Amino acid sequence: MRVAMGLTCNKAIYFYSMSGNTKALVEKCDTTDYDLYNMALIKPEDLSFGEYETLFIGTSTVGRGVPHTYFREIYGKLISLENRNIGLFGSGNSIYDVYCGALDVLEELLSSKNNVILKFKFESYPTKNVLHQFQEILRGDK
Ligand SMILES: Cc1cc2nc3c(=O)[nH]c(=O)nc-3n(C[C@H](O)[C@H](O)[C@H](O)COP(=O)(O)O)c2cc1C
Repeated sequence: MRVAMGLTCNKAIYFYSMSGNTKALVEKCDTTDYDLYNMALIKPEDLSFGEYETLFIGTSTVGRGVPHTYFREIYGKLISLENRNIGLFGSGNSIYDVYCGALDVLEELLSSKNNVILKFKFESYPTKNVLHQFQEILRGDK
């Protein structure tokens, strides 16, 4: 894990996790090549997406298939993003009508001006297999 300063790294992972499932995915993978931002610890007005070429943005889904209210508060920053490679990831629960719908909402918001490279949805707490898949994505193997 790298301290989030963004001085030398051109890749970053931003994540918002309610009960720790999405956070666990990030923390249990090797993220050495990334700057990490736990959005729950950053006031919306202080959040910056910097100049990273590649952004992974993670959030679980709440309400009826939408991201956390935090994302409403950073709406302006999200729609200002352009020319980035963006990977979306997050935990959900398939008992809900719109499984991991937050990622679809973010894709719709971001895809016109950016290259949304993937959406990685997973169920509840990350399994060994889920961790393996996400690790490969972070390594750029997939
Ligand atoms: C009020 C509430 C609403 C939820 N709505 C959805 C939903 O619409 N779709 C979904 O896939 N999961 C939904 N979930 C499930 C969470 O996204 C799921 O528990 C997830 O694993 C939480 O991840 P986190 O610990 O990273 O926040 C909801 C959970 C809560 C508490």
